Amino acid sequence: MPTMREVAEKAEVSITTVSHVINKTRPVSDELSARVLESMDLLGYQPNLLARSLRLGETKTIGVILPDSANPFFAEVARGIEDTGFEEGYSVIICNSDNNQDKEKLYIDVLYEKQVDGIIFVSTGESTKLLSDSREQKKPFVIVDRMMPGINSDSVMTDNEKGGYLATSHLIQLGHRKISCIRGPSGISPSANRFTGYCRALEEHKIPLDETFILDGDFHFQSGYTNTLDLLKLDNPPTAIFALNDLMAVGAIAAAQKIGKNVPTDISIIGFDDIDLAAYVHPPLTTISQPKYEIGVMATNLLLDRIQDNNRQPRSRTLDIKLLIRESTASPR
Ligand code: RIB
Repeated sequence: MPTMREVAEKAEVSITTVSHVINKTRPVSDELSARVLESMDLLGYQPNLLARSLRLGETKTIGVILPDSANPFFAEVARGIEDTGFEEGYSVIICNSDNNQDKEKLYIDVLYEKQVDGIIFVSTGESTKLLSDSREQKKPFVIVDRMMPGINSDSVMTDNEKGGYLATSHLIQLGHRKISCIRGPSGISPSANRFTGYCRALEEHKIPLDETFILDGDFHFQSGYTNTLDLLKLDNPPTAIFALNDLMAVGAIAAAQKIGKNVPTDISIIGFDDIDLAAYVHPPLTTISQPKYEIGVMATNLLLDRIQDNNRQPRSRTLDIKLLIRESTASPR
């Protein structure tokens, strides 16, 4: 492996100059920079990033822990993180906890060992004690999407309660009174808050809550599919389903169509997220749009500020959502 000394000799500069060019620790003239970079290229010199990070106390990397990297919602949030981090010279390490707390803990340890400069964290739901450890508190981090009671940190959330209210009100305004709700995993705030909005809309219109219409899913296609089959077998089936994320809503559409029901006239279906797929299923899904990319951008900017100053006051951001009416909802027959 060529050394920094050999680079300096070939470029006819000092080793200090080579170090300043590599680490950008002091301005170097364009002419000398060009000679150093050309010498590095000719020799195939690779800076020792580990040595650099130990010396500078930073690795210019951001760690991200997501509960389900296969879910397009998180993929788009991650895109906002990666684009923003890259623009600021940071590499991004994306970890998938698979909604598994043990895996989540393992990845937190891995990111610490890799000495990332900060972590963007989407909890599996029971993670509070992981981050309440004083060790974590020293590492700059931002929590996203799922609230973590007792954790005083920067956060980026969306207005889930309002989204649940808007989705349900839309169905009520169409004339639906038998409105089912397929909830997401228990113990995470987005699902709980959307359900609260659903209940508020029903109460506001004096529609009694029918427990037989409330089923629990897991934010994946299959749970939307199987829960919808069960709902449509009821003696008194719903005329509308509010699935608390788009993947379950897509599963619900597939199930209704599987048993010969027309969406939306036999059963209207509304989702939550507005993933790209939502506009391309048949019929295109009415849903609540979350600003996914912007969530990633905002979380990264909050984290970068905190990396610069970890003593700053935590900042909480709640982004707005909007109702997107497409073709999967209509007035009941
Ligand atoms: O689709 C995945 C869901 O998990 C989204 O609604 C997002 O808010 C997250 O909580």
